[in-house]
Amino acid sequence: MVMQFLLIANIKCSGSLSGINSGDIADFVTYCNTNLLKKGAPSGGGAVIDQWNVAGEKIKLKLVSDRYVRVHDALLRLKNELTKLLGKHRIGLRGVEIEDYRILMDWDEDWQLKKLPFVKTLKQERGTLTLALDVDESALANRIPDRIVRLLEDKKEAAKWKGKSEHWELLFESEKKPFYFDKDPTEEMANRCWIRHAAGRGQFVYGPQITKIFRAFERILFDEIFTPLGYEEMIFPKFVSWDVWKRSGHAKGIYPEAYYVCTPKTRDPDYWEEVIDYYKVTNEVPVDMIMKRIENVGGMCYAQCPPSWVFLQGKTMPDDILPVKVFDRSGTSHRYESGGLHGIERLDEFHRVEILWMGKKEQVIEHSKQLRAKYRHIFDEILDIEWREAWVTPWFMAQEGKAGLAELREVGTIDYEGVLPYSAKMLEFQNVSVNGDKYPKGFSVKLQSGEQLWSGCSGVGLQRWAAVFLAQKGLDPDNWSEKFRSAVGELPEVFRFL
Ligand code: SER
Ligand code: ZN
Repeated sequence: MVMQFLLIANIKCSGSLSGINSGDIADFVTYCNTNLLKKGAPSGGGAVIDQWNVAGEKIKLKLVSDRYVRVHDALLRLKNELTKLLGKHRIGLRGVEIEDYRILMDWDEDWQLKKLPFVKTLKQERGTLTLALDVDESALANRIPDRIVRLLEDKKEAAKWKGKSEHWELLFESEKKPFYFDKDPTEEMANRCWIRHAAGRGQFVYGPQITKIFRAFERILFDEIFTPLGYEEMIFPKFVSWDVWKRSGHAKGIYPEAYYVCTPKTRDPDYWEEVIDYYKVTNEVPVDMIMKRIENVGGMCYAQCPPSWVFLQGKTMPDDILPVKVFDRSGTSHRYESGGLHGIERLDEFHRVEILWMGKKEQVIEHSKQLRAKYRHIFDEILDIEWREAWVTPWFMAQEGKAGLAELREVGTIDYEGVLPYSAKMLEFQNVSVNGDKYPKGFSVKLQSGEQLWSGCSGVGLQRWAAVFLAQKGLDPDNWSEKFRSAVGELPEVFRFL
């Protein structure tokens, strides 16, 4: 792809340049154009000073480059040399004003670009894209132009995937199982007052019966997985700060689905008095007034495992403690789901047991196989449900807004899907993922041997397990397997309503 960069910069100096021999500056420009701004570029490539002009205390430069030694890099190189040259005359550099920065590139995409950060104007015509940037010296030092080019490549990649459905490949299918129910379990549970829609969006209050079923699911996980496979429990944070989501990649795509968390700008009661008074007088919560007094600091737990990595961040572990196996069941996850009424199969607030293991590559892959065998046993022998496994886009890529597959076949996500007899749709109710080196790298976790640490995780959605199980077997324990019935015990009857 052809790419061209143009930069007009005014370099301000600490004194008049009139005393400097113009031949010296011309020599400097020749040196730049033949040597300094070519270093590292293939022959014929690199940057050049296309025009230059010295007036008073200012040097005006027009730089042009291809993709090698881009004009902002050229400017940096040249400034260092110029500092040396002017130093001989006891003149220093005061600063650089960027008058114009343009990027031109081939652009054959059939979709329109909208707004881009740091871009003043954007022209898309006859196979060329021209961007005029709004950048200062520090934005150039931070390589903003390079990042804009990368962003465009990202967008092109995303456009290729758009419209295509996410990757899905069947890996395993269970036997057919008897179904004893053909209704929507959410409705049936609501009728029996096992659950009630809560005050929040996609949120329920779970009554004693269904809660006991959730706890039975957890007990099955303990008996079949945690105890025999040597897992220990941890408590992961449920508020996630942006620093975590920058490292986990969620900062690249979570925005339409996050539950945002804000803190007060100050705890000073005086600052809040107006809000308090307004509420007392109107009985309305003045959300607009609140919005001005708070600031966003992150969001609610979304993927469950990412904030736990802070525990290991920057640490080195001895190899002999591997594989490490832990789980968290300490709280809710939150996602802003697409509109419409959904039952417990699609919630804004849900409960999940997150299972996390780490080790060397072979250990992590091997453990994912052990887990899959355990799950198969649970679904076939205890819950007795009809389900299947599919190889899908890894969750961490999907959550960054990427489609497709990880490059390595060893890294990726297996989704577990269950039949919902009432809906003809399948429901994804958990996953098992090998996440490769992504998290250890993102959070700088190392092994003593220097080998690369890998990790995997598996999220067990309690409501999703219930949605599949109850849809197939119904709410009547007589139709449940003996094993599951005894895992649950008596269903408690606590409330009655008139
Ligand atoms: N962290 C994984 C996910 O969010 C597994 O729970 O899908
Ligand atoms: Zn996870």
